[in-house]
Amino acid sequence: MPPAKVFDAPVIWFTGPSGAGKSTIATGVLRVLQDRGVAVEVLDGDEIRNELSPDLGFTKADRDLQVSRLGYLAHLLSRNSVLVLVSAISPYRESRDRALSRSRRRFEIHVHADLDVLIARDTKGLYRRAIAGEISGLTGYDDPYEAPLDPDLVIDTAQSSLQDSIDAVLDLLDQGVQQAVQRGVQRGVQIDKSA
Ligand code: ADX
Repeated sequence: MPPAKVFDAPVIWFTGPSGAGKSTIATGVLRVLQDRGVAVEVLDGDEIRNELSPDLGFTKADRDLQVSRLGYLAHLLSRNSVLVLVSAISPYRESRDRALSRSRRRFEIHVHADLDVLIARDTKGLYRRAIAGEISGLTGYDDPYEAPLDPDLVIDTAQSSLQDSIDAVLDLLDQGVQQAVQRGVQRGVQIDKSA
C-alpha cells in the first residue's frame, strides 16, 4: 500500500477573553469543514485544561504553559494533515506568537467583544463572580489581555452574526488555500468549493 499523503494543514488560532465567542465560532467552522470532508479538530482551552493541564491555574506562567501545550498539540496534528481550530484565551502575545509559530500554515483570529457585552452575556458566570470579588485574575477584567498586533481577522461578536463570523473564517481559509494553489504549492488542504 502506498504511504498516506501527509501535508501541513492550517492552524486557526482563536484568541480573546472568556465569553467573546471563540468556541462557538470554532464549533461552527468545525461543522462546515467536517461536512466538506476535511480532517479537522478543535483544541478547546477548557477541555485541554481538564484533560492535560489539571496542574495549571491562571498565573501568567501557567497560562503560558497551557498555550505552549496547545501550540505543540496543534503542531502535531497539523503536520499530520489535520486542520486545527484552537480556541483559547491565550492572553499573552509572546507565548501565543511562539505557540503559533510552530505551525507552518497559521491564522490568528482575534475574537473581541467589549467588556460590558461580556458582562451582560456572562455565559459561565465568571464576570459576576469577579465583580462580587469571589474570584480574581479574570482576563480582561482584572488580568491582562494582549490583543494580537497583526491578526488575520478581527471579529467583534457584538457586531457580527454567528453565521457571518463563521463565513469570514471560511473565506480566510479558502483564500489561504487559493493563494497556496496560485503559488503552485500542492500541500494545501483540499476544500471542495462546490460543497
Ligand atoms: S488561557 O488563559 O490559559 O489561555 P484557557 O483558554 O486555557 O485560558 O482557559 C480559559 C477558561 O478557564 C475559561 O473559558 C474559563 O472557563 C476558565 N477560567 C477560570 N478562571 C479563569 C480566569 N481567572 N481567567 C480566565 N479564564 C478562567
